[in-house]
Amino acid sequence: MYNSKIIGLGKYLPEHVVTNDDLSQMMDTNDEWIQERTGIKERRWIKEGTDDTSAVMGAKASRMAIDRAGLTKDDIDFIVFATMTPDYYFPGCGVQIQDMLDMKNIGAIDIRNQCSGFVYAISVADQFIKTGMYKNILVVGSEYHSNGLDKSTRGRGVTVIFGDGAGACVLSREEDTTKGILSTHLHSEGKYADKLIVEAPSIKHWVPEIMESKEDLSYFPYMDGTFVFKHAVVRFSEVIIEGLMKNGLQKEDIDMLIPHQANLRIAQFIQKKFGLSNDQVFNNIMKYGNTTAASVIIALTEAWEQGKINEGDNVVLAAFGSGFTWGSVIIKW
Ligand code: UT7
Repeated sequence: MYNSKIIGLGKYLPEHVVTNDDLSQMMDTNDEWIQERTGIKERRWIKEGTDDTSAVMGAKASRMAIDRAGLTKDDIDFIVFATMTPDYYFPGCGVQIQDMLDMKNIGAIDIRNQCSGFVYAISVADQFIKTGMYKNILVVGSEYHSNGLDKSTRGRGVTVIFGDGAGACVLSREEDTTKGILSTHLHSEGKYADKLIVEAPSIKHWVPEIMESKEDLSYFPYMDGTFVFKHAVVRFSEVIIEGLMKNGLQKEDIDMLIPHQANLRIAQFIQKKFGLSNDQVFNNIMKYGNTTAASVIIALTEAWEQGKINEGDNVVLAAFGSGFTWGSVIIKW
């Protein structure tokens, strides 16, 4: 048995910044409401006319991660790609990365677990490495939300939250099983699927049906925000404690917590509950909004770039979102 270890991190954010004031030109919202309820000041949205998509952004982040790992594309054995906004209904974005990076004919899978997508993706990759099947796996999280949001006042409860972006890491074999990813913890509760959902187009509810009716808005994301918020704070706490207990760690042992960037208020609630200082929790939702499957890996990359994660640190990743799905990853850096 081996452990897996992150040896390279990368990110890509589209250049185009959309501020809260920009949104108030499109819909009835305002900077004060958005900042007070979510902590978000601005987000990045892909500008019309550029080539960026979930796969393209994922490829850009991947090149950076592979480069920083000191590897080449030919050293990668497998691709795991997390997104809820793939370029195509099928095939997934993983195979596009294989092509865009001109890689060998390695395997590629997509993970569709929304806000928990990256935590699920890294957990899947970890299993392949632990068993010895693969040595180096590229794990990507990328989202292109902005093209699929309702930018009228009708959609304001959801649209102001989401941003576009991508992150990637290279997970590699680690012989010392006291280092790297120590454990991962995954959960779901499908009875709440309709609380945060993009219902269509789906095979149950296909495009011609939607086009027949002007009132059918099932292709826009729907969220019962308050309901999701209440579940998020409970599940985040539970799954972090589960991970700590599994490894005989106390909350005081956390050097860096990277929560999924859903809402700054959720992260602050968790921070307070665990008695963590500002240096022990990393947030960047203020700049990027909620980038769903990309949020944890973008935040992890930035925390590392800023020198906030050092060798030997206990790093905890945690996420909660649509499904409901939630999970945590405990890492000895
Ligand atoms: O990442 C996946 C998991 N997602 C989450 O964890 C998100 C969890 N939920 C949340 O973050 C919060 O519920 C939101 C930020 C989405 C919403 O905050 P809230 O405090 O729950 O607001 P609300 O939906 O209860 O709406 C309060 C009021 C409503 O007006 P009335 O009915 O009180 O008159 C809304 O219509 O705020 C109104 N509102 C807005 N006003 C200005 C909703 N969206 C906006 C907006 N600007 N963008």
